[in-house]
Amino acid sequence: MAALADPALRPVVRTFFDEETFTATHVVHDPATMKAAVIDSVLNYEASSGRTKHGSAQKVVDYVRETGLEVEWQLETHAHADHLSAAPWLQEQLGGKLAIGADIRRVQDVFGKIFNAGTEFARDGSQFDHLFQDGDTFSVGSIPAIALHVPGHTPADMAFVIGDAAFIGDTLFMPDYGTARADFPGGDARMLFRSIRRLLSLPAETRLFLCHDYKAPGRDVFAWETTVGAERAHNVHVHDGVAEDDFVTMRSARDRTLSLPSLIMPSVQVNMRAGHLPEPEENGVSYIKVPVNRL
Ligand SMILES: [Fe+2]
Repeated sequence: MAALADPALRPVVRTFFDEETFTATHVVHDPATMKAAVIDSVLNYEASSGRTKHGSAQKVVDYVRETGLEVEWQLETHAHADHLSAAPWLQEQLGGKLAIGADIRRVQDVFGKIFNAGTEFARDGSQFDHLFQDGDTFSVGSIPAIALHVPGHTPADMAFVIGDAAFIGDTLFMPDYGTARADFPGGDARMLFRSIRRLLSLPAETRLFLCHDYKAPGRDVFAWETTVGAERAHNVHVHDGVAEDDFVTMRSARDRTLSLPSLIMPSVQVNMRAGHLPEPEENGVSYIKVPVNRL
């Protein structure tokens, strides 16, 4: 990671914020080659009607075309539980290899059981074009990148460090808001703390781009970019000096007060399939299941 923070390796980042799910989709590109990656896209979903829409993803398509970018990657930091991924739709429009962390197979195994998916649902990650292992290197145009396994929120979370910018998914939030929850199936607060400390060992000037923002008390605007230095100094849950055991106690107590995301049922069933709807039934219609008294 020696190349990090080299000003010549400073990708351009444009963020699209989906206010329905509080999700930040980042389009990152290398200004020298105009090659790009799309990170954590959103497929709009209306739960009451079961309708999908492409308004949020279309903004990404318009921007990529207007700017003249060539998309190399559709990256997912993890299988999101609060919004559906638009990655397969964006791939049709813009291209790029659809990739996620290799431990998605564990997530597929857990949720495949919870939703009683049939044998047609492969638990081997084969719905994705590429599975990243911890430490795998890749590139966006001429900018070197590395994939880091940062489990805790889910077992499969990845962070993507691209030049001087790190896309850290659901690990840290803005310093005034704290950290991601760790109580989903396969989540672990102690693992999350260790993953966060690993991210915070990046150079202080590293730009951090978050997956979500919910505004913090006293802050009126959404925000999704900070730095390692700012998180180490000010993060309300994990600033420098917070001990692992104290974090685990705080995180676990806070998680017990949180309700599940309103879109968790459709999100998980779609995202464990790399953003594809469940296989249609004989009548050609896809259905979303709700396991009663299970989650
Ligand atoms: Fe998440």
